[in-house]
Amino acid sequence: MAKNPADSLIVMTELVLPNDTNTFGNLMGGRLMYWMDIAAALSAQKHANLPVVTASVDNISFENPIKLGNSVHIEAKVTRAFNSSMEVHMMVHGEDLVNRYRYKSNEAYYTFVGLDPFGKPAAVPALEPVTEAELRLFEGALRRRQLRLILGGKMKPNDAAELKALFQL
Ligand SMILES: CC(C)(COP(=O)(O)OP(=O)(O)OC[C@H]1O[C@@H](n2cnc3c(N)ncnc32)[C@H](O)[C@@H]1OP(=O)(O)O)[C@@H](O)C(=O)NCCC(=O)NCCS
Repeated sequence: MAKNPADSLIVMTELVLPNDTNTFGNLMGGRLMYWMDIAAALSAQKHANLPVVTASVDNISFENPIKLGNSVHIEAKVTRAFNSSMEVHMMVHGEDLVNRYRYKSNEAYYTFVGLDPFGKPAAVPALEPVTEAELRLFEGALRRRQLRLILGGKMKPNDAAELKALFQL
């Protein structure tokens, strides 16, 4: 049975403590990626109702550092489900609750695979986008999947029709 992106919404909030920071007093990238991995895995699991593993992580650009004492908000939603794999989009914001200032830190895509009781890839429900923004993410997911499978050595560039079409105007 198909599900909507909203069905997989996970909102995670963390507080940046001294042990989470680098020598500049900013949240360390590795700690943020750890929290993002958990938020995205929960989102994929909510969609699939199966145990999941992280198959790949797309590039992450840290646009703004998150300061010690600020809070971190991670919003994760499945953008598209394929056979056993799902792409999860995350939007990450920092927030200074004292000065009432919220800022974007980064956004990223992680891919998860649902597993059967033997640890093998298992079919996951389809995803039907509802809003225009969800539809845009859904359509782009096919090209992003092709790019990550090419980079992972699992697809030949010549087979990536939708990705190639971007460059053949
Ligand atoms: C991810 C994993 C389950 C894929 O298993 P596999 O036996 O290679 O299976 P397949 O090649 O049949 O691929 C299964 C699905 O994974 C997807 N996949 C495989 N490698 C991928 C990659 N690098 N990026 C994105 N998706 C990938 C495939 O596209 C396929 O998706 P689909 O079923 O929706 O078409 C397996 O490689 C694994 O268990 N990796 C370790 C996961 C892990 O431990 N993660 C924690 C971080 S270390």
